[in-house]
Amino acid sequence: MQTRRIGDAQVSAIGLGGMPMSIEGRPDEARSIATVHAALDAGITFFDTADAYSLGGPEVGHNETLIAEAVASWGGDTSDVLIATKGGHLRPGDGSWTLDGRPEYLKQAAEASLKRLGVEVIGLYQFHRPDPQVDYADSVGAIRDLLDAGKIRYAGVSNANPAQIKLADEILGGRLVSVQNQFSPAFRSSEPELELCDELGIAFLPWSPFGGIRRAAELGDRFAVFSEIAAEKGVSAHVLTLAWMLAKSPVVVPIPGASRPSSIQDSVTAVDVQLTPEEMGRLDAA
Ligand SMILES: NC(=O)c1ccc[n+]([C@@H]2O[C@H](COP(=O)([O-])OP(=O)(O)OC[C@H]3O[C@@H](n4cnc5c(N)ncnc54)[C@H](OP(=O)(O)O)[C@@H]3O)[C@@H](O)[C@H]2O)c1
Repeated sequence: MQTRRIGDAQVSAIGLGGMPMSIEGRPDEARSIATVHAALDAGITFFDTADAYSLGGPEVGHNETLIAEAVASWGGDTSDVLIATKGGHLRPGDGSWTLDGRPEYLKQAAEASLKRLGVEVIGLYQFHRPDPQVDYADSVGAIRDLLDAGKIRYAGVSNANPAQIKLADEILGGRLVSVQNQFSPAFRSSEPELELCDELGIAFLPWSPFGGIRRAAELGDRFAVFSEIAAEKGVSAHVLTLAWMLAKSPVVVPIPGASRPSSIQDSVTAVDVQLTPEEMGRLDAA
């Protein structure tokens, strides 16, 4: 498997997003575990989770526990696996997603994630989403404190605009390693953040690369150019989408979500798809 860099870690160029295995519509646990094992079998070493990926209430951390247990039960060498989690979003249990970016809350959330992941140091800890009630610098300050205290190996932010990315990197003393923003054929307004990450050498992790769990199946129908070029190359529109993202910049590490082995087995093949400048131009314009 081709690798890319997050901090000084080399990880698989395609990661696995854990959300579909833990929120509404999730499969039974056996299928989720099989999905994580299929990802590991295929050479994936980067997993994205969050304490908020659950049905809410007392289930907080459902996906962190699931990923940690699945990685532990795989049986192969997992020394190069990097698990990224996030704090700052909450699911009260009524289907909603709320925010808490207070430094004291983020520190407590990171401690709880540490325990659920069963590690002494979290691989990559990301501030999930800016909380309008809290100064962004204060929230990121908590992530810096976690880094300084050795509780987390790497620090990242998510759902950040270019000004917030620059501020976060400054507060972290140049130690911001990743930005996780929404990016897909349907959602391209994160191009400026992708370009900034490319310029700064910070990993860019596109979330919902297929347009999200509910719309992923329609990807090929919604974007004719993606399905046309995919058909010419004999791959799925999903694979073509990931190849397009990978070709945009060496800092891109897409994190497609999956809840069945066949989905992630298909997605990893994107690392072998080559696109010409002409094809890239058509996809960019589509
Ligand atoms: N930072 C944030 O605020 C934020 C927000 C949303 C998501 N995320 C992260 O980003 C990850 C990805 O986003 P997402 O899960 O929302 O949406 P997504 O990746 O756009 O779509 C996920 C769905 O795509 C389907 N799929 C996966 N590979 C496929 C393939 N090769 N062919 C056809 N269908 C395929 C899966 O179906 P099956 O379930 O049937 O396998 C899955 O349910 C999440 O899992 C999460 O880790 C972060």
